[in-house]
Amino acid sequence: MKKLSILLVADVLFACQAEVPSEIPIAIIPLPQEISQQKGNYEIPANPMVYAQGEEAKRIIQLFLEATNTEANFTEDANAADWKIMISEESANKEGYQLDINADGVTLKADSHAGLFYGVQSALQLLPVNKPAQHLPLLSISDSPAFSWRGMHLDVARHFFPIEFIKKYLDMMAMYKMNRFHWHLTEDQGWRIEIKKYPLLTEKGAWREETLIGHYTDQPHQFDGQRHGGFYTQAEVKEIVAYAAQRYITVVPEIEMPGHATAALFAYPEFATDEGPDKVATLWGVFDDIFSPEEKTFVFLEDVLNEVMDLFPGEYIHIGGDEAPKVKWEQSQYTQELMKREGLADEFELQSWFIRRVEKIINARGKKLLGWDEILEGGLSPTATVMSWRGEAGGIEAAKRGNDVVMTPGFALYFDHYQGAPQFEPTAIGGLTTLADVYKYHPLPTEINAEEQARILGAQANVWTEYIPTTDQVEYMVFPRMLALSEVVWSGADKKDYADFQDRLAHHLPLLDAKDINYRLPEPVGLGVNAVQMESSFELVLSTILPNAEIRYTLDGTLPDQNSAVYSESLEIEIPMDASLKVMAIAISLDGRQSAPAIGNYTRQAPLPAVQMEDGAMAGGLTAQFFKQNFRTVSQIEEAEPVTEYKLSVPQIPVEVTGSVFGLNIQGIFIAREAGIYEFELNSDDGSLLKMGKREVINHDGLHGPSSKNGQIVLEQGNHLIQILYFDAGGGRGLKLRVKEPNGSWRELTEKDFN
Ligand code: ACM
Repeated sequence: MKKLSILLVADVLFACQAEVPSEIPIAIIPLPQEISQQKGNYEIPANPMVYAQGEEAKRIIQLFLEATNTEANFTEDANAADWKIMISEESANKEGYQLDINADGVTLKADSHAGLFYGVQSALQLLPVNKPAQHLPLLSISDSPAFSWRGMHLDVARHFFPIEFIKKYLDMMAMYKMNRFHWHLTEDQGWRIEIKKYPLLTEKGAWREETLIGHYTDQPHQFDGQRHGGFYTQAEVKEIVAYAAQRYITVVPEIEMPGHATAALFAYPEFATDEGPDKVATLWGVFDDIFSPEEKTFVFLEDVLNEVMDLFPGEYIHIGGDEAPKVKWEQSQYTQELMKREGLADEFELQSWFIRRVEKIINARGKKLLGWDEILEGGLSPTATVMSWRGEAGGIEAAKRGNDVVMTPGFALYFDHYQGAPQFEPTAIGGLTTLADVYKYHPLPTEINAEEQARILGAQANVWTEYIPTTDQVEYMVFPRMLALSEVVWSGADKKDYADFQDRLAHHLPLLDAKDINYRLPEPVGLGVNAVQMESSFELVLSTILPNAEIRYTLDGTLPDQNSAVYSESLEIEIPMDASLKVMAIAISLDGRQSAPAIGNYTRQAPLPAVQMEDGAMAGGLTAQFFKQNFRTVSQIEEAEPVTEYKLSVPQIPVEVTGSVFGLNIQGIFIAREAGIYEFELNSDDGSLLKMGKREVINHDGLHGPSSKNGQIVLEQGNHLIQILYFDAGGGRGLKLRVKEPNGSWRELTEKDFN
C-alpha cells in the first residue's frame, strides 16, 4: 500500500499548509483506459467562459458547475471559451470521451452525450470531498468502456423500496458509469408495477400478509405477522425512467413468467394451471404455481406487456423464465393435450414454446426478449438474449449458438451473497463473494472464440432481497462491491489491478460517506486465509484502506473489539511446531465504526519429506480414475469402483469425459524444484480435495458452483505424491489447479510439473 501513503501525504500537505500540491491525487473509479497527469494544476475560475454544444451538453456541464460552485458565462464562440464541451466524431466508442485539463482550461469531447456525461463523472471525481473545489489536476484522459452492458439489478419484489431510494441507486450507478438498471418488478412475494387493465395485480398482488423471520433454513419457520408491500404507479415508473435517462441509464423491466408468478396468480387465478395459490407467498424459495399456457393467458400477458412496453422505452424486456417447476403442467390435462397438439416432447419444450409466444408479443413492438439461462432449455429462439446466472455455462452455450449474452454468474456477481465469514455478517442467502472475487471476474470465458466472445454484451450484479429488508442493507450489500464491478465492465481485464483499485477505493469511502451510503467497511488486509509457516516466529504486516483508521487484533480466536490490542508497524507471531494459530483483525474508522474481521489461520509445519522414486517406477504423468456415480462428497469416491482410467498431463477433467455426474481420483508425482512454501488454488464445480502425501492441503468439498479455495504446504525439494479427488453432481462442471511456488507468482501447472 505504498501508493496510499504517498497519496495521504499529499492530502495532509493540502490540508495543513493550504498549499496546492503540484500533483493532486487522481483516484478515478472505474479506472480510465488512458490517463496521463502533468505537474501543476488548473485554478477553477469563479465565472468560467463555457462553450457547450447544444442544450444537452449544457445540462451535463451544469452538473460540474454546480459541484464546483461556479457560474458559467456561456458563449457561442468556442475560441473564446475556458471550457469547451462538445460532440466530436473522433472516438471509436459511442460512450467514450476525451478530457483534457491544461493551464488554459478544460476540453471535454465525446462522440455522444453519454460520453460527455461520463467525462463529467470522471471530472467530478477529481474534486475534493467536503471541501470547496479550487483546483483541478493537469491531465489528459482518453476513456471508453470495455463492455456496453454494465448492469445493476434490484429485486423490489421480495422487499419493496420507495422511489426515493431507486433514485439514489441510480445516482450511484451513474457515478460509476453503470448503464443498465434491471428492475425486478414481479415475484411470488409481490407484484410491484401498476397495470391499469388488471388492477388486482397491485390491489391484491402487491401485498403479503407477513414475512419469514430469519433464514429459510431456520426451522420451524416463524413469521413477523406484518403486512408488507407496495407498488409503483405508472406515473412513478415514468419518473424513474426519465430520471435514469438523464443519467444515461436504461431501465430494463422484468416481468416474471411462467414461474415466480404466485402474486399474479393469486390476483388472477383464472390464468393459473390449477385453481391458483391461496395467498401471495410469505416464504422464500421456488413455488409450483405457474401460468397456464392457454390462449386467455397469452391475451393477459400481451395486455400486461403492452402497458409495460408503453412505459419503458429501452430495447429489452426481461421475462424471467427461471426456476419454473413443471409439476402442475405435468398434472394438467389441458396442458398435456396442448403438448400433443403442438408436438412438444416434454415440459421443457413447452416452456420454450411459451417463451417464443411471448417473444412474438415483444418483437411486435420492436423490442428484444431477455431471459434467465433456463430459457435455453427446450430450445432457444435465435433472437433472444440470455442472462447467465447459474455460472457461465448458459452464457457459453448461448454465445456458441449465436445469441447475445449478459453474464451474471452467481459465483462472482450475486450481491446477495455473503462478503465475509457468515458468523460476522448480517444474515444473507448464502455463498461468499468478496470484493476481491468481484474484482477478479472477467465476463469473457476462455472456452469460447473471439467471434463468440463478441456476443457477450457485458456483465451485471444481481441484488435479490429475500434477506435484505431495508435500503441500508441494500447499500451494505452493494457497496463497495459495485465499485469493483464498475472496473470489471468499464476498465476491462487489461487495466485491472486490485492493489491499485484498493488505493483508489480509499479515496472513495469519504465520497460514499458524503453520499450517505451505508457501505461495508473493508476489513484489514495482510492475513493469509490458510497459511503455513516453517519458522517458529514470523512477522505479519497489516494495513487498512480506511483513512486514519486503527487496526485492533486478537490471537486467541475471539472477535476483536475497541479494547483489543492495537496494531502498529508489524506483528511478531510465535508458533510451536505442528500448532495452529488464528489471527483476527478489525479496522476501526475515525468515527468508531468497526469493520468485519479479517481472519488468518496459521499452521507451523515441518517440510513434507520428498518420496524416493524406485528407478522411475511411479513416473509417467498423472492417472485419473473415472467413476460413474452421483457423489455428494469427495470421501465417497475412494470407496467406489472405477469404471476406467485416463492419462493426464495436468489435473483437469479428461477430454474424453463429456457428460456430467461423475467422479475422478487423480494421482501422480508433483516435482518441487526447490524447498519452501507452495500455495495451490483449487477451482472446482462441484466438490474437490487436494492432498500431498498424507497431508490435506485444500478441502473444497460439497455441492457448489465454480469457486476457488487456496491452501499452502511446506515441501522438501523433490518428488511428492499428489492426489486430487473431484466430483460433478450435475449442473456446471470444472476442475483447475494453479500453483504459486516459493518466491514465485501464480501460474498454470504444466506437464513439466509432474514426474
Ligand atoms: C435467479 O437467481 N433465479 C435468476
